[in-house]
Amino acid sequence: MTNTKIAVIGGSGIYDINGLQNPDWVTVETPWGAPSDQVLTGSLDGVEMVFLPRHGRGHVHTPTSVPYRANIDALKRLGCTDVISVSACGSFREEMAPGDFVIVDQFIDRTMAREKSFFGPGCVAHVSVAHPTCPRLSDACETAARDAGINVHRGGTYLAMEGPQFSTLAESKMYRESWGADVIGMTNMPEAKLAREAELCYASVAMITDYDSWHPEHGEVDVTQIIATLMGNADKGRSMVARLPALLGAERAPCPHGCDRALEFAILTQPD
Ligand code: ADE
Repeated sequence: MTNTKIAVIGGSGIYDINGLQNPDWVTVETPWGAPSDQVLTGSLDGVEMVFLPRHGRGHVHTPTSVPYRANIDALKRLGCTDVISVSACGSFREEMAPGDFVIVDQFIDRTMAREKSFFGPGCVAHVSVAHPTCPRLSDACETAARDAGINVHRGGTYLAMEGPQFSTLAESKMYRESWGADVIGMTNMPEAKLAREAELCYASVAMITDYDSWHPEHGEVDVTQIIATLMGNADKGRSMVARLPALLGAERAPCPHGCDRALEFAILTQPD
């Protein structure tokens, strides 16, 4: 058994953790540069917790400029074991309505202007991301969301787009009808891939703010619409997060799905 340390990467609208004890904003340096912001550390229900605002306090990083490698490296350096990503997204499904949460289990990565790996020339590794999220951690997120009274959908494919513009109508229809995506956002990739390379359990909770542009009765998405739904979502998201430490517990057994051993057979470069 090892000590649990839960990291929460908060998206738009979430900038702290409800009820965190001994809160302290700390600066973390990494070989990949500075993370999005200082990191909030503390504990809740006897479990250590870390919070990182993905876009920085004041929302200064675009989805493209978020320093994904520095963020994941900072969480690893702080000894985090589990990473919960909380982010706003659009929905491609009628039944996944604004205000609902989706526990994402698959991704289609359409981002193209971001550093996606900790590995490179000199040390080559290929980790599996066939199952990019951790089922054990996703279970806890689902239970926490249900206990918080949130309408939650278990499983869904998240289309990660580069942005910052929203999709065209043609793209929105293609992602929904031909590609089978359920939700769309701009930030979960390469975050999920990097978490796997860092051998961290990763779960993604997508908070639906809109129907993107495909829905004939809802017109096209804009930021005003997103912000209106975001405020209610953020309160629900904080309530869900506050329930996680009691569910996960202060001690954890090795990940039954192997997230914490992802590099065991992934590195091809011979050691010196
Ligand atoms: N974030 C929230 N809604 C979104 C949408 N429709 N497309 C991309 N990112 C989003």
